[in-house]
Amino acid sequence: MSIDYQEMIPNNVGLGEDRRLRRALEQWLPGFQRWWRELGPADSDSLDVYLRTAISVEPGGWANYGYVRMPDYRWGIFLAHPEPDRRINFGMHKGDPVWRQVPGEYRADLRRLIVTQGDTEPASVEQQRHLGKTCPSLYDLRNLFQVNVEEGRHLWAMVYLLHGFFGRDGREEAEAMLERHSGDPDRPRILNAFNEETPDWLSYFMFTYFTDRDGKFQLAALAESGFDPLSRTCRFMLTEEAHHMFVGETGLGRVVQRTCEAMNEHTTDEVRKHGVIDLPTFQKYLNFHFSASVDLFGQELSTNAASYYTMGLKGRFQETRIGDDHTLADATYPAPEVKGEQVVLVAAPALNAVNERLRDDYIADCRRGVDKWNEIIRGAGVDFELTLPHRAFNRKIGVFAGVKATPEGAIITQARWERARANWLPTGADRAYVESLMAPVTEPGKMANWITPPAKGINGKRLNYEYVRFD
Ligand SMILES: [Fe+2]
Ligand SMILES: [Fe+2]
Repeated sequence: MSIDYQEMIPNNVGLGEDRRLRRALEQWLPGFQRWWRELGPADSDSLDVYLRTAISVEPGGWANYGYVRMPDYRWGIFLAHPEPDRRINFGMHKGDPVWRQVPGEYRADLRRLIVTQGDTEPASVEQQRHLGKTCPSLYDLRNLFQVNVEEGRHLWAMVYLLHGFFGRDGREEAEAMLERHSGDPDRPRILNAFNEETPDWLSYFMFTYFTDRDGKFQLAALAESGFDPLSRTCRFMLTEEAHHMFVGETGLGRVVQRTCEAMNEHTTDEVRKHGVIDLPTFQKYLNFHFSASVDLFGQELSTNAASYYTMGLKGRFQETRIGDDHTLADATYPAPEVKGEQVVLVAAPALNAVNERLRDDYIADCRRGVDKWNEIIRGAGVDFELTLPHRAFNRKIGVFAGVKATPEGAIITQARWERARANWLPTGADRAYVESLMAPVTEPGKMANWITPPAKGINGKRLNYEYVRFD
């Protein structure tokens, strides 16, 4: 099914036949457009960008490329096709047909899950607002804008669910999505990692690698939902999320590659004077972004998470591939606790530990990128190894929030933490150095000095293709 782009809001949800919903969304649209102008990508109004636009959800059919004037991007509403006879796969309703409407008794919980997810989408656009001014290349600028428009579309996806299934409270929540802002002291975004700044491109690549990957796992857990419209929405969002993580993984790989080249060329570890990002600084940024993203999975043991699971609202990662009873009545799962100076694993009720299990799946997935960057370092003959910090490191939420831990996971005193912190997390001087490298490069095919060119261009285009046109 292809989408009629003559409609104001392209969609595959039958908006043409649903006047009430169409009018609700048309009323929300101007506020969204105002938000995009004020808090979306800065100075992008007159740019033509070589973007991918979804025009259908068929495999291969949703990737259509062409120049789009940024403010004219059409944010559509797309759901993956329904699976015939889909059943709820877990919890107390396991085996029942999925719900096409919101079950009355789960309304508040479902709304909360959708609002929490939805709030992250515009937040990341706000966090990335100023990055276009310091792009390392046109290729990277285009990828930034691609991620930004897709996060905007993800907001549309969640707002569609709120307007379509939650009546008046849904409309109010949709408005509030545009009223909370990243880092706003009075009305901040709901989750803390989305109130942090993304002031430079190293932070941006770290964010798309680590924080967008949290998105992947949250969306995958919501894609298991018994509420079928939420499941179908998340399944389509996941196809776009993959690109965001690709931007992070390859961006960071290119940074590491360039640094190793400079180390070899000048036979020194002290590469800052050659205008690249030294590996210890890279490691500190990694430590920061990983620990902030790990917090997004919440408390290790959570009765809310247990209820969402039992109700059939939010499952586990790849629920149907797990070989257990999918109700978790008597099962246990190892969850960490702090015992004196040790982190120990204690068998906890698996139902209460679904957050922790999702965090475990996430951490395993994070490791793959670190392994790849280490391969680049080894390939260059450089003696340095990047590591993923222990989950206890620099946490603000959960059992580790009250203690200090080294990146290796040893529990230490506050005093020792204060002394060592500058070795583990970016200092003001580190951030100032990274920011000093950020100067825009907008000549087609040219790259900033601190990053190598990508392995290939976008959609088969050359590296020196004019991915963004300035007027
Ligand atoms: Fe997203
Ligand atoms: Fe994303």
